[in-house]
Amino acid sequence: IKKLLTPQDLAGLTVLVTAGPTREPLDPVRYLTNRSSGKMGYALAEAASQRGAKVILVSGPTSLKAPPIEEVIQVETAIQMYQAVADRFSRANILVKAAAVADYRPDNICDQKIKKAAGEMNIELVANPDILAHMGSRKSDKQFLVGFAAETNDLDKNALSKLEKKNLDLLIANDVTQPGAGFDYDTNAVRIFSKTGTIKEIPVISKNIVAHKILDAVVEFRNC
Ligand code: CTP
Ligand code: CA
Repeated sequence: IKKLLTPQDLAGLTVLVTAGPTREPLDPVRYLTNRSSGKMGYALAEAASQRGAKVILVSGPTSLKAPPIEEVIQVETAIQMYQAVADRFSRANILVKAAAVADYRPDNICDQKIKKAAGEMNIELVANPDILAHMGSRKSDKQFLVGFAAETNDLDKNALSKLEKKNLDLLIANDVTQPGAGFDYDTNAVRIFSKTGTIKEIPVISKNIVAHKILDAVVEFRNC
């Protein structure tokens, strides 16, 4: 019924969505991760499917039930997410990168639990690949890239710089300090920046509605 009432404005398109955090193991009992419930990404995957798209969801570990869509790939680490996205990118008309990817991973993964005997622990970190920036450098004129930015300060400046650096078509900026926006909440508030400089402001509202507003912007800017 929901599908009947929703405009089928993504029919015939394949939308690749990433969601959730990544998890970077340190030893068999510990990992580094980012704050992310996955709710925004799952809401986007479901909304795109309701609008007629074929949806591929690449998800880091979350406690959410997978939405009823074509393909769901569960991953743990940023490298696995990179591989899953890179393998499927050529099939995607639209890539929506809502995942909170860990920027760094431990350089070594110990196969045994590291003991606390020394009274301190030092972790050497190495940079993970920037999945979105890689896809931005690979994308064709027909592919549309949507990135996210979680910021605590200088929202507009940081958002615009990510839009340009990663060769994005749309950037969804989240002020994670705002009440009712971001991590764990069922609601979110975002500012949408287009490549052409247009800014749309979505006030605090449920993540399902934010997802549809983001897809409205995708449809609008893809056609101009
Ligand atoms: N992203 C990615 N791969 C990474 C890091 C980030 O694909 N290794 C994507 C995220 O999915 C998001 C966008 O890039 O869509 C911005 O992520 P964010 O963490 O806000 O920006 P960074 O470029 O990582 O910069 P910083 O964390 O320093 O603000
Ligand atoms: Ca980051």
